Amino acid sequence: MSTETLTLTDNTTGNSSELNLLRGTLGNPTIEVKGIPGDLGYFTHDPSFGTTASCESDITFIDGDKGVLLYRGYPIEQLAENSDYLETAYLLIHGELPTGQEYKEFSTIIRRHTMINESLKSFFNGFNYNAHPMSMMMGVVGSLAAFYHEGLNMNDREHLMISAHRLISKLPTIAAACYKHSIGEPIVYPRNDLDYCENILHMMFSVPCEEYKVSPLAAKALNLLFILHADHEQNASTSTVRLVGSTGANPFACISAGIAALWGPAHGGANEAVLEMLAEIGSVDKIPKYLAKAKDKDDPFKLMGFGHRVYKNFDPRATLIRKVCYEVLEETGTDDPMFELAMKLEEAALADSYFVERKLYPNVDFYSGVIYKALGIPTSMFTVMFALARTSGWVSHWLEMMGDTSTRIGRPRQLYTGAPLRDYLSMEKR
Ligand code: SDX
Repeated sequence: MSTETLTLTDNTTGNSSELNLLRGTLGNPTIEVKGIPGDLGYFTHDPSFGTTASCESDITFIDGDKGVLLYRGYPIEQLAENSDYLETAYLLIHGELPTGQEYKEFSTIIRRHTMINESLKSFFNGFNYNAHPMSMMMGVVGSLAAFYHEGLNMNDREHLMISAHRLISKLPTIAAACYKHSIGEPIVYPRNDLDYCENILHMMFSVPCEEYKVSPLAAKALNLLFILHADHEQNASTSTVRLVGSTGANPFACISAGIAALWGPAHGGANEAVLEMLAEIGSVDKIPKYLAKAKDKDDPFKLMGFGHRVYKNFDPRATLIRKVCYEVLEETGTDDPMFELAMKLEEAALADSYFVERKLYPNVDFYSGVIYKALGIPTSMFTVMFALARTSGWVSHWLEMMGDTSTRIGRPRQLYTGAPLRDYLSMEKR
């Protein structure tokens, strides 16, 4: 990485600080600010970290202006066309596409770790039947630490890799168990003869009393959705995983924290919120009313699935997902008015100056729910599916951070605006 320097001068005091300008492989150069407090006595102020590079990473690159997304340098469009989810997970973790032998070994490891400890299954009986699956996921995934904490040496790379494999392997089994619990059906064991996405559908939809055949179309669509959702550089949930991981916390606790962050409707919870929004809008003739609500600063309503902190152009994933929507609805013979409504809503928003001026385009969550719905996946499971896919990204960033010898505990500072120093006042004097 090349470095140049910038000089920051305080025009009031005349003091200055020499700052390194760091240039990576692609994207914006970054100003290294660590010298400012020592030289000038100042902190930097960047609420919500909109312009802060929190780390160096080799994993994913996004160019928000051009709508570019690369996993380890490979364009998302090429991976969507040619790869499968486990190959993409291997790429994110190891940095290179696997050879045939490497792919075979990796997929065998993942298949062989899909079962969960039998005693873990009793956790589900503690949840109300109508508990949101994301709340169950957070709890059960975090509890994996109770099964794998002993003997986990965080300084042993092999132990970290085994934890990463366990997470990628077991999360689908846990997710499917959350779903089965919510519908009162028995939890289904994974099958080692099925591939990753086939197994998810098998564990979610098969029942003991009849044979279940996984739909190749559903498995193919899920595989594509999982590739598209696998990673996205330093988004809120990935940054959460990194921050929790920087304290040396157990990897299962880190991923549980990532699941918690993803659940928010401003983040991964948006895919569920999009379907709820479309249901609320109900028909094309109501679109103008809801666009007006989205533009009204006094109205908390936002167009869910629209806008992005980084993309100020089309989210390339949304474009790919919309294409698959057509294929899935066509092949399943589903005539889903929600899809029609979503496309009309997109058309109306992108013709409206409010959205155009603010560069608000459909994001990854806008169309994904339409596909999940067509595959028979209930709305409450949409964000769980996002979490399953993003697990490979989360563990890749966790491994990268844990392997970086310069990693220190994350500890932001603040601009204090509270009360100045003052003395305690006894009760009778207040
Ligand atoms: C994901 O970070 C990632 O990479 C996330 C993700 C990933 O793969 O990990 O891509 C996945 O989380 C996608 C985003 C899903 N969330 C939604 O679809 C929820 C709806 N979107 C908004 O909440 C919002 O757009 C965010 C949260 C996505 C982005 O928030 P920002 O960057 O803080 O946006 P902003 O508030 O700076 O927006 C700028 C303007 C504001 O208006 P003004 O103050 O300029 O007048 O645009 C407005 C906002 O009010 N605006 C919206 C809007 N999004 C932004 N107005 C109406 N509807 C919206 N959806």
